[in-house]
Amino acid sequence: MKKITVVGAGFVGATAVQRIVEKELGDVVMIDVIEGMPQGKALDLMESAPIEGFDVEVMGTNDYKDIEGSDVVVITAGIARKPGMSRDDLVKINSTIVSEVCENIKKYAPESIVIVVTNPLDIMTHVALKMTEFHPSRVIGMSGVLDSARFATFVAKELGCSARDVDAMVLGGHGDSMVPLPRLTTVSGVPITELMDDETIDRLVQRTINGGAEIVELLKTGSAFYAPSAAITTMVASIVRDQKRILPAAVYLHGQYGHEGIYLGVPVKLGRMGVEAIVELDLTESEQAMLERSADAVKKGISTLEI
Ligand code: LAC
Repeated sequence: MKKITVVGAGFVGATAVQRIVEKELGDVVMIDVIEGMPQGKALDLMESAPIEGFDVEVMGTNDYKDIEGSDVVVITAGIARKPGMSRDDLVKINSTIVSEVCENIKKYAPESIVIVVTNPLDIMTHVALKMTEFHPSRVIGMSGVLDSARFATFVAKELGCSARDVDAMVLGGHGDSMVPLPRLTTVSGVPITELMDDETIDRLVQRTINGGAEIVELLKTGSAFYAPSAAITTMVASIVRDQKRILPAAVYLHGQYGHEGIYLGVPVKLGRMGVEAIVELDLTESEQAMLERSADAVKKGISTLEI
């Protein structure tokens, strides 16, 4: 049985745990600094097992010793955005939180694959790499699966077709400079550039870029969690079941797409070993230019770090 730890028992973490156990991807440890909360949520979830029919264990804890031997650790801990805040406003506080979490991961789960969800995503994943000192293939940021799902949702709504038939591709950082790729976004194999006019595509691209903020504006007291937790679960499944899916994720580039030593969202093959390959798409000049802009934004964020 695989062991999966989710750090942070807030909405994103707890919903991810629910999805992971309902899919029986492994036994789960949910850890949080707040006393009683992870224990309470874990017990509540366990009590749904007879109804939902899952045969995995969920444990809630405040003690990092309990994450020992984890195969995958998902970091959701951190402060979420409030209306009007950008993901970058969170750098200072969340880098302190992520650093502390990573010291414990290094100590108790040194063989694990780490999926970072805390914002600002690309920068926090960079922090996790530095603090764990793991090989970059084992430190991955969750962003592209979520951003692509949002793009796919808007495309499906616009066309009045099933979202299951939409295969969307979003590259770049998880921020205002993300790069949705209409040319490589297809409905049962047909690029959306053949199905919609430019103006419509632009509108859907903008809504995708603003997707996280749109939810924050509505919720007022937190950020999205249903789609983020679904995206996390897809990545966890690909790793623990060695599915080798090709999914967009924030990974450490070493030469790919012309970049060295930064995290950026690109398609990767996710399997038992973590990032097993980085897929290099043949981008047009304007797509590459947008990716450059995104890389610049990530670099700027990293330069503000004190690590
Ligand atoms: C979002 C936040 C979690 O995109 O970054 O919803």
